[in-house]
Amino acid sequence: MSAKKRIAVIPGDGIGKEVIPQAIKVIEAVGAAVDFTSFDWGADRYLADKVTVPPDGFATLARDFDAILVGAFGDPRVVSNIHAKEILLGMRTKMDLYANVRPVRLLDASLCPLKNIEPKDLDFVVIRENTEGVYGDLGGVFKQGTPDEVAIQEDINTRKGVERIIRYAFDYCASNKKLDGSPRKRVLMCDKSNAMTHAGGLWQRTFQAVAAEYKQIETQHMYVDALCMQMVRDPRSFDVIVTNNMFGDIITDLAAGLQGGLGMAASGNLRPGHASMFEPVHGSAPPIAGKNIANPFGAILTAAMMLSQLALDAEAEKIEAAVLEAVRQKKTTSDIGGALGTREAGDCIAKKVAS
Ligand code: NAD
Ligand code: IPM
Ligand code: MN
Repeated sequence: MSAKKRIAVIPGDGIGKEVIPQAIKVIEAVGAAVDFTSFDWGADRYLADKVTVPPDGFATLARDFDAILVGAFGDPRVVSNIHAKEILLGMRTKMDLYANVRPVRLLDASLCPLKNIEPKDLDFVVIRENTEGVYGDLGGVFKQGTPDEVAIQEDINTRKGVERIIRYAFDYCASNKKLDGSPRKRVLMCDKSNAMTHAGGLWQRTFQAVAAEYKQIETQHMYVDALCMQMVRDPRSFDVIVTNNMFGDIITDLAAGLQGGLGMAASGNLRPGHASMFEPVHGSAPPIAGKNIANPFGAILTAAMMLSQLALDAEAEKIEAAVLEAVRQKKTTSDIGGALGTREAGDCIAKKVAS
């Protein structure tokens, strides 16, 4: 029998501290062979001792764990957001978790704000570059506080970084099927190369070069503005979308809206062959934190994604099926039409996967 998988858990702030316990409860109920170790990184710890990430923090995560399950970071008391930057963006960049995989799936037609969209119509994935772009925080402020103030935020695009994320998207397309069992067929690159010509040019050239190696996969290109319009008008045609860090952030919140809202969206921050990090797409949602109303399904589906990546596929599938059943039975939190609290929605899934 194989050893238990070691999971580091970082609930973080706000509703992260409410939804992650639900995900853990469900993983325990399904009987997955895992061990959890909790870390208190987040706003409370930062406010208490000014530590965001302990000195050996990322090395410990990379060395001692098979995966990391994360809630969300962001707290009104930490106006600078320094802890979120150092913990969340730190994990992504310092652990080189370069592929942010955000599946977009509709569990039930009633969850989609668009007319005539069925679950079979919404089954695409956004592959977001996770280590470069404007998130590198290179730049600076000049003459701050004067009428001549200048702020520069650099956009980093390396051939290596762009090529590996585009290649990841093609490999993902070649090796993953849609939920209905049909093969994935097309990789769409989303950029803004008509305005951001230097970075866009690199993405365009790299996309063409990598695409030439995957002749069986169709390619498509859209500017990010047109893509947003298309995602709302008719998202049926999307399959695999690859894009940069910033556009990936924005379009996955839009896509979450199609799935029933941020409470339903899951994600993984992956680096093949290394411990990866899994987190719901949503943030810490301060206005609803501590009220037992946040939707835990995004976190629970994220847990399923993590188990599947750890080759615990049967457990992952059981969890996904239970969430689907709960959605159909309207055993959900109020954001998607039910009357359950966060804990009760978690209990419902735990009970389903345990039986
Ligand atoms: P948010 O995702 O926290 O909330 C956006 C909206 O969605 C709010 O109306 C919120 O109530 C709702 N919502 C989010 N998750 C929900 C859930 N599970 N159930 C029900 N409703 C849910 O985004 P925001 O308001 O822009 O940001 C709040 C804080 O979270 C900020 O500090 C931000 O920087 C941070 N943030 C962190 C992450 C992360 O750690 N991965 C992601 C996004 C935002
Ligand atoms: C996300 C979040 C983060 C991002 C923030 C909290 C820095 O919005 O994970 O989608 O922009 O990547
Ligand atoms: Mn985001």
